[in-house]
Amino acid sequence: MTQAVQNAQSRRDFLAGVGALAGISLLPLAGCARSDKVRVGFMLPYTGTYAQLGVAIENGFRLALAEQGGTLGGREVEYFKVDDESNPAKATDNANKIITRDKVDVVVGTVHSGVAMGMIKVARETGTLALIPNAGVNAATGDLCAPNVFRTSFSNWQPTHPLGKVMIDNGHRKAVFITWKYSAGEQALQSFAEGYKAAGGTVIKELFVPFPNVEFQALLTEIAALKPDAVACFFAGGGAVKFVKDYAAAGLKNNIPLYGSGFLTEGVLDAQGDSAEGVITTLHYADSLDNPRNKAFRAAYREAYGMEADVYAVQGYDTGLLLAQALEKAGGDISNRDAIIAAMEGAVIDSPRGRWTMSKAHNPIQDFYLRRVENGDNKVIGVAWKGLEDPARGCNM
Ligand code: BEZ
Repeated sequence: MTQAVQNAQSRRDFLAGVGALAGISLLPLAGCARSDKVRVGFMLPYTGTYAQLGVAIENGFRLALAEQGGTLGGREVEYFKVDDESNPAKATDNANKIITRDKVDVVVGTVHSGVAMGMIKVARETGTLALIPNAGVNAATGDLCAPNVFRTSFSNWQPTHPLGKVMIDNGHRKAVFITWKYSAGEQALQSFAEGYKAAGGTVIKELFVPFPNVEFQALLTEIAALKPDAVACFFAGGGAVKFVKDYAAAGLKNNIPLYGSGFLTEGVLDAQGDSAEGVITTLHYADSLDNPRNKAFRAAYREAYGMEADVYAVQGYDTGLLLAQALEKAGGDISNRDAIIAAMEGAVIDSPRGRWTMSKAHNPIQDFYLRRVENGDNKVIGVAWKGLEDPARGCNM
């Protein structure tokens, strides 16, 4: 870990403790500068199937700030955090802890689409600036879009939108889609089905597992009986490891090609081992993207944390870049809401994933890469869609 990241870490640990002791204020104070320091709250999963994703996001965010001397627009930063456990039932309470109790200026959260819905509700009610570093729930930049809510990752519509045409081009006209039964999986499926049908394909069966269950055996037996040309899916984190291994162990890997949004093989290839070889995915990042920005980022991340970066780390990093850019433009004044929002709306992020801009609905307009797992790497084999923008259905901003 670099000294800059270490300093930020110990300051955060100390201040998180202080924050935990602070009393609860019922007054929404969004937009007010409450101290000289910028108060940043992480609402992320640190336990459960998405724990690794939460850690990578926080690491990436801290790295971006460490590269700017640990400050935002010249101001020091205080960190607060809450483990949201990827549990939608606790989302409103957890959002209130970080927003109302800890009185953060900006909340960075979260990973799980259902949890994001609770966080967005509180952010909208209080006017607190919210930066979503992963959760793809379409409504965040669709019918629940808001001036103070920005996303630095993707909408659930985006990663699987290009996948249907890819599968048709590879000759697969009948597919099964399998996913966890919650908004991220359901929306990934809807978007896949739109693109696949438009390209001439038929989804012959939709299969669901409750989140975060990893009991796939019965459904894998059903897939074997259905004999589709290919299978497409949405899984991520610990569940993706188990699914890919079970798919291979069930003897399906060599007979029915497996596709997915890139979360399936992201940050988990070591754990998946040979089972993942040949899996084809679409995503807005790949470790091996051949640009200097990506190489420098990956080297800095490895040096700071002693592990490899993945898409979640990139999304956290870009969230830090976005906030830093906005605070710089606003002269370090987080209470200058108009300046912060204008800066974020006009931001161009020079990201390890490639340059991206913010859509009118506050979601990245970005390239999606076609990847195939080869020798333990998500090898880029093409660009599946250049400059893909979410349709932002229902957003009236
Ligand atoms: C989601 O719930 O939005 C999500 C979780 C993990 C990876 C991608 C999306």
